[in-house]
Amino acid sequence: MERTLSIIKPDATERNITGLVNAMIEAAGLRIVGQKRIRLTQEQAEEFYKEHKEKVFFPSMVQQMISGPVVVQVLEGENAIKHYREIMGATNPAVAEEGTIRKTYALSIDKNTVHGSDSPEAAAREIEFFFNHTEIVG
Ligand code: TYD
Ligand code: MG
Repeated sequence: MERTLSIIKPDATERNITGLVNAMIEAAGLRIVGQKRIRLTQEQAEEFYKEHKEKVFFPSMVQQMISGPVVVQVLEGENAIKHYREIMGATNPAVAEEGTIRKTYALSIDKNTVHGSDSPEAAAREIEFFFNHTEIVG
């Protein structure tokens, strides 16, 4: 069993499709063991995505992440980190595989509906960033 951090991004909350995304997560066999709807501050978004600080897309990406509510989630399952990255699909929905969340719902590379941790180290850091132990119930 493994846990990963998921974020349903503002482009999805704006379109009222958090339930549709959750249905795809659950259909894939991942269990939502922690979940809350929050609004990120600019400081939080910049800290969360600090690995991308030097990228040209960083300022617009931070603005996108604070443009509306997000739903942060802890997902649990076998190989949850890799499994979730697979069902999310590629960062750019134009090249994401059929049946993935991003192929199905993402609007563009900068409105790509979901975030998922990309390594065990990232998952540990990102889960701790948003959740304390009492908020995760497996
Ligand atoms: P990245 O970590 O490369 O992708 P992923 O979310 O698949 O792990 O990038 C983080 C987010 O930054 C990405 O989900 C959307 C945004 N982004 C852009 O807006 N433009 C870009 O060209 C890239 C690569 C990412
Ligand atoms: Mg990433």
